[in-house]
Amino acid sequence: MQFLDIILKKRNGENLSKEEIDFLVGEYVAGKIPDYQMSAFLMAVYFNSLNRKETAYLTESMANSGDKLDLTQINGFKVDKHSSGGVGDSVSLILVPLVRSVGLKIGKLSGRGLGHTGGTIDKLESIPGFNVDLTTDEFLDSIDRIGMAIMEHTSNLVPADQKLYELRDVTGTVKSLPLIISSIMSKKIACGPDGIVLDIKTGSGAIVDEFKEAEELAGGCVDIGREVGLKVSALITDMNQPLGRAVGNALEIKEAIKVLKGEKAGDLKEVTVALVAELLLQSRKAETLKGAREIVESKLTSGEALSKFEQLVENQGGNPEVANNTDILPGSDQKARIKTDQQGFVGELDALKIGRAANLLGAGRSEKGQKIDPGVGIQLERKVGEEVTEEDPLAVIHYNDEKHLNRVKQMVGEAYNMRETPPPEVQLIKERVR
Ligand code: URA
Repeated sequence: MQFLDIILKKRNGENLSKEEIDFLVGEYVAGKIPDYQMSAFLMAVYFNSLNRKETAYLTESMANSGDKLDLTQINGFKVDKHSSGGVGDSVSLILVPLVRSVGLKIGKLSGRGLGHTGGTIDKLESIPGFNVDLTTDEFLDSIDRIGMAIMEHTSNLVPADQKLYELRDVTGTVKSLPLIISSIMSKKIACGPDGIVLDIKTGSGAIVDEFKEAEELAGGCVDIGREVGLKVSALITDMNQPLGRAVGNALEIKEAIKVLKGEKAGDLKEVTVALVAELLLQSRKAETLKGAREIVESKLTSGEALSKFEQLVENQGGNPEVANNTDILPGSDQKARIKTDQQGFVGELDALKIGRAANLLGAGRSEKGQKIDPGVGIQLERKVGEEVTEEDPLAVIHYNDEKHLNRVKQMVGEAYNMRETPPPEVQLIKERVR
């Protein structure tokens, strides 16, 4: 088999067989296909797409490209969650202990921030001592013993996705639905859970901005999961504005702790509760969505979710005191308030612009391996629909270095779009896909 023939077939809009897809994944991971040829193939997929069967073959082949986790020896219903990525998305920080508090088990592999989106691993590393670098045995042992663990994705799990994603990132081929579906689902399948919930974002800060595409993405992932015998459901959620009010690593940990304490209502809590409720339904520990939500909410108000968070932090070497004293987290020396001269209501708050501003401040990275500042970020004092006077800050920038401050201030100011009357209410959870 020649890889050039596979490229030509896809360029000409023909369908690929399972053997051809297995060949291209296997040879690429083995280093036998050069990046320039794989780039041509990815671009052919970008323009001519993959049908359902081809996408399923690619997913399976990628999932089998390295090690797989075997959770079968661990009792109980094991779950996983994936977000297609957004700004201020600290859902996983809350979801993992919350899932555990409702009696499910979860082993979560997460990534670092890149571009305008943050990463759970960077956020957790802002907790003094927290170790994200577990061995597979330590990870499995933690799931078995305390029912939860979070670690950084390792290169021996789904190496095909690591290599392909890096190449897609620099060849303009990230935004291809079959490539996104296979990337997401191969990683989930390789982790061996019983149930998966997906948070597919749509809006300016999401990988797919159009709702229709988000629907196709969610449907494609759910179909593939079902084909391999997993319980999968997806929520399509709004990412036109950042989720929550904090964007930045330690700031997001603080906000997550407030939600875990039951102190904070709002979109971040809403999305997290809805995702955990889906998992409870899958596990059959709840019969109705309403019943599932009630169970989840009760774990936030009772303090059980918070105590699971402390246990998670302690188990991974972090200082559990953080749950009651967030002053031990890194912070910023300086703060700058962003105000408006236009009294009224926030009409829009562009997630992409806020994500880019936080990145420029040092909260994220534009290149892999770049050092970040865990203490900096943007606190959003006003979100869409909220009233503002000239006295109130729209946002507060937490910074340690003035280098890009003026540009960041401008970007944050531009992210806000004011209007005289309240805008239509944001529909946070746009659809359930099951
Ligand atoms: N998230 C992933 O894991 N993969 C993609 O391709 C896009 C978003």
